[in-house]
Amino acid sequence: MKFKMAELADEIFNRTFEREIECKNGTLRIQQAEVGDESCVVWDAALVLAKYIQTDHFCSTDGLINRRVIELGAGTGVVGLIAAACGAHVCCTDLPSVVPLIESNRQINQHLITGSFTANSLKWGQDVSTFQPTPGIILVADCIYYEESLFPLVVTLCDLSDANTTVLICYEERTTGNKPLLEKKFHELVREHFTVKEIPEEHQDPVYHSPDIHLLRLTKKDVKL
Ligand SMILES: C[S@@+](CC[C@H](N)C(=O)[O-])C[C@H]1O[C@@H](n2cnc3c(N)ncnc32)[C@H](O)[C@@H]1O
Repeated sequence: MKFKMAELADEIFNRTFEREIECKNGTLRIQQAEVGDESCVVWDAALVLAKYIQTDHFCSTDGLINRRVIELGAGTGVVGLIAAACGAHVCCTDLPSVVPLIESNRQINQHLITGSFTANSLKWGQDVSTFQPTPGIILVADCIYYEESLFPLVVTLCDLSDANTTVLICYEERTTGNKPLLEKKFHELVREHFTVKEIPEEHQDPVYHSPDIHLLRLTKKDVKL
């Protein structure tokens, strides 16, 4: 098994192209894979989210230093790596096949990490007991994308959070195919469990924001039994 993982990591490493992304304490080098699905490139929503968590607005309301952060559907891992470069303790997650790409990006950027960072497999809807205790912050970029895993994603958000967890979800509004319906369904599902507020553009990064990229802050409803 170890051998297979190493082979896969080599394969990914050998067929990548690099993107440089500035963060507060240096330049991240992010490997994107030439071959693969949507997990293997940095999406615009990831950039908007990664830049927002470095703004004065986020630092004054939440902050990252010494915070426990879980990223879901991390792809290249760029958002989680920036959080770790800003001092957070980050558990970056995606499907098992994507973990080697995140791990390879961790290795390249290890010198920028001032908190800590691990790459882990987590398929939405699965048991999350190994990811306890509850994180202070959950980050999700461009994951309102898959019909079959919309409900499992909301289940995982619920399982990982409590009323003190800040959940930031950033997604690109898409107008084709089933995407508008998925977005509507997602809003209905999360609003059953979370209070949802859109973060206005004036609080986002002055350059990295866009009218078709939505940044949401979710807080779990404190249900008293
Ligand atoms: C559009 S990509 C976004 C990647 C990254 N967050 C970004 O914005 O650059 C969606 C990500 O969700 C992950 N994903 C899809 N279905 C998933 C599932 N059921 N459980 C966990 N991750 C999943 C994919 O592997 C992929 O990395």
